[in-house]
Amino acid sequence: MIESIQLDKNSNRHLYIQLYSQLRELIEMGELKEHSKLPSIRKFSKELGVNNVTVVNAYNLLEEEKLVYKKVGSGTFVAPKEIVQDEEEIYLDDDIYIDEDTKFADKKGMLKEDQLINFATAAPTPDLFPIAPFKRLLNKVLDRDGGYAFGYQKSQGYMPLRDSISKYIKSYDIDAKLDEIQIVSGAQQGIDILAKTFLDYGDTVFVERPTYPGAISVFKSRKANIVDITIESDGINVEELETKLKVNKAKFLYLMPNFQNPTGYSYSQEKKNKILELAREHDLLIIEDDCLSDLNYGANKKLSLKSQDTEGRVIYIKSFSKIFMPGLRLAFLIIPQRYFNDILLSKYMSDIFTDGLVQRVLDLYFREEVWEKQISKVEKTYQKRYEVMIKSLKSNLPVEINFNPPLGGLNIWLELPEGISGKKIHDKGLKEGINIAPGQVFYNSQREENKLRLSIAAVTTKEIETGIKILSKIIKEELSNQEYDWDNSIMPLI
Ligand SMILES: Cc1ncc(COP(=O)(O)O)c(C=O)c1O
Repeated sequence: MIESIQLDKNSNRHLYIQLYSQLRELIEMGELKEHSKLPSIRKFSKELGVNNVTVVNAYNLLEEEKLVYKKVGSGTFVAPKEIVQDEEEIYLDDDIYIDEDTKFADKKGMLKEDQLINFATAAPTPDLFPIAPFKRLLNKVLDRDGGYAFGYQKSQGYMPLRDSISKYIKSYDIDAKLDEIQIVSGAQQGIDILAKTFLDYGDTVFVERPTYPGAISVFKSRKANIVDITIESDGINVEELETKLKVNKAKFLYLMPNFQNPTGYSYSQEKKNKILELAREHDLLIIEDDCLSDLNYGANKKLSLKSQDTEGRVIYIKSFSKIFMPGLRLAFLIIPQRYFNDILLSKYMSDIFTDGLVQRVLDLYFREEVWEKQISKVEKTYQKRYEVMIKSLKSNLPVEINFNPPLGGLNIWLELPEGISGKKIHDKGLKEGINIAPGQVFYNSQREENKLRLSIAAVTTKEIETGIKILSKIIKEELSNQEYDWDNSIMPLI
């Protein structure tokens, strides 16, 4: 099998990366059997016509990923397939980041955060964080750049990383030049510096209803006039947008066209076209927050508005928090040229630059092609959880409960019958071992009390099965209480 390996010396991929990728494929496909010996470094490098170091580096990468093991004095061998760790045994740090819509727990009589099955947070858990490759690439950056990684950096971001991002984003059909990319310290900062750039006291912004609460908080902090546009299962109601555009001159429209937070809804192509058309007619700027389109479990390819924006009306935000590690605080913006300098100034005023060390490490993730592996691991894990979630919901929830399987992202939005309070279900859940996000926290106005958001980011498949049974039991109890209340309410008529 080894004979099939071919290295291309004219390619701009490193030879050791080419060798590593091909060997990895042979191992993963079972073409190289467990415990079989790989060629010795000297023999292999001679056969391939490369330096010894090329083979050493490729073997080291494979060892790091536990695909091979080394025996001193004997050589390098294909490792046995790792037994998949039982999800229940995954170590979870007590102090995992709890995002803003999870703060409801910890009241009297309710279980503590670590005793709860946590459907409320959309933040990934530490078991998904790629610590081993991160350590290697971190050391590589330190060896390579030394103190430069810790000096003041350019406010726009580390140039090689911007270059890697412009290549990565091509797979999403977005063509971004290096000088349109701005690195920021998380998407939340991205939203904040855009608000700082564009909003003055009393300015109008349009948002989806419901929407991401972190954005509402930012717009409120600028004392903006927030106008909601109702979201439907195929995107915002465009007639409502059109009517409101005639009355209000908005500074921008903030939206999440793919796997929206909290609903999981994705916009139809028809609505995307219409929104771009309205943006043209009304000279409207769009801020597109795209956290989750990488997590697709079988939906059609999710094109962004940015990829279809021919007139420079869309500012695109992408966070690495959900698909990589939130603690790195890394995200980027793609900004039409005419806004670039103003936004750069806001970024400078916020924190001057984003951590240079983590930018360098992320850049190596892209350059050494560790990135694809990371994304595919995260996507596979979430897809498994998603499938278990949908199956559990379908087989346990009472028929009165509606939901739309989103086929991607991290969130599922449940609609309860009118009169059933999401907050009450949430409070009961905390006493019975589950934490869910009551829908009301995602509204700026006209709160809908009968909604719930369930996330798959921080729950194992076993927890999903157990947790959804608990949730269904609570909902059934509420439904029967409601019937009971209704009976009482008609009694005075006789
Ligand atoms: C839609 C949306 N935008 C932005 C953010 C903030 O992301 P970051 O961690 O990159 O600041 C979140 C986090 O949950 C989110 O859901």
